[in-house]
Amino acid sequence: MTTSSRKLDHIRICLEKPVESQSQPFEDLSLVHRALPEIDEADIDTSCRFLGKNLKAPIIISAMTGGHPETKDINVRLAEAAQEVGIALGVGSQRAALEDKRLEDTFSAVRDAAPKIPIIGNIGAVQLKRYGPEVLERLAEMIDADAIAVHLNFLQESIQPEGDKDACKVLEAIGSAAKSSVPIIVKETGAGISQEAASDLVRAGVKIIDVSGVGGLSWAGVEAYRAAEVGDYELEQMGKLFWSWGIPTPVSIIECRHAGADVISSGGVRSGLDVAKSLAIGASLAGTALPLLKPATKDCQAVVKAMNAYLRALRISMFLTGSKDISELSRVPLVVLGRTREWMEARGFDLRKFLVNRELAR
Ligand SMILES: Cc1cc2nc3c(=O)[nH]c(=O)nc-3n(C[C@H](O)[C@H](O)[C@H](O)COP(=O)(O)O)c2cc1C
Repeated sequence: MTTSSRKLDHIRICLEKPVESQSQPFEDLSLVHRALPEIDEADIDTSCRFLGKNLKAPIIISAMTGGHPETKDINVRLAEAAQEVGIALGVGSQRAALEDKRLEDTFSAVRDAAPKIPIIGNIGAVQLKRYGPEVLERLAEMIDADAIAVHLNFLQESIQPEGDKDACKVLEAIGSAAKSSVPIIVKETGAGISQEAASDLVRAGVKIIDVSGVGGLSWAGVEAYRAAEVGDYELEQMGKLFWSWGIPTPVSIIECRHAGADVISSGGVRSGLDVAKSLAIGASLAGTALPLLKPATKDCQAVVKAMNAYLRALRISMFLTGSKDISELSRVPLVVLGRTREWMEARGFDLRKFLVNRELAR
């Protein structure tokens, strides 16, 4: 099966099947209600800077697609919507276009549709290792990217019949890439990044990490469906067994921030309230992917509508916590309960210190 046709399989399964993790990762977090916000809602400023450009809100449409002729329209609608709303956009892995130049326009069309916003390119860490850091320039030129996300997806590779499981020297390849003139972001794809892995990445020179933790799309789940379709019973079982493998998104945000990275929250970010919670625990930006796939198969305005609801909920969260701007959200009182609290404690973090002054100690 080619990289390009696999892309269509993934989209079809994501549109037709329940592919999310069972848990709702942000449910354990509560922003403490401020009955006296003492601000005028009209004065709230949700804007921020990302990769040297202005955003209307700290939100990114996470990497999804491109790489098959039929995915071009989806990418263009996502791009038009991101441009209209004033948020950032990631494209899916550009590997297929490296293998077949004719597919380049399924990615480059994005920049034509969204000339002003930050656009993030995408490549797998294993492909980065194969092609070498020089490939970053080529990927960036293809879409006039502001940065390239290097994705880690070893859970998915483990469940994929054609999966590439040679993870040796990936950190070294990322270290070389971090020295390139093209800014990079290291990104998981639904299994999260621990403090240990984040520390390795930061030492290798990585500045921005997109955690993509457990709580949203499950690639093990998607691959379980694909395995079932071709009658591979054992891989189907593996996909089900590892469906929710990984680090929950909020835990991963806190751990990666503690390691010293700038953090993008993703994996189960399902509303502007989840964006606000992400920022309150240390993320600078939050991304969402799966909820936008169906709207993007319809038209640009369906995506705009979905994203405007995120912006609205972010604003309301800021009003009800008395946060006039994004930076104030990072200091609002917060409660952490349930599994997230247990995770943090089991990992040896001093949660009380974190909740009082957002300082993490072990
Ligand atoms: C159809 C689809 C394709 C995706 N392809 C990529 C990809 O090529 N590269 C990547 O880094 N992440 C990819 N992702 C993962 C998302 O960027 C994101 O990390 C993940 O879906 C978790 O976010 P969510 O729960 O909001 O969907 C894809 C997600 C979807 C739904």
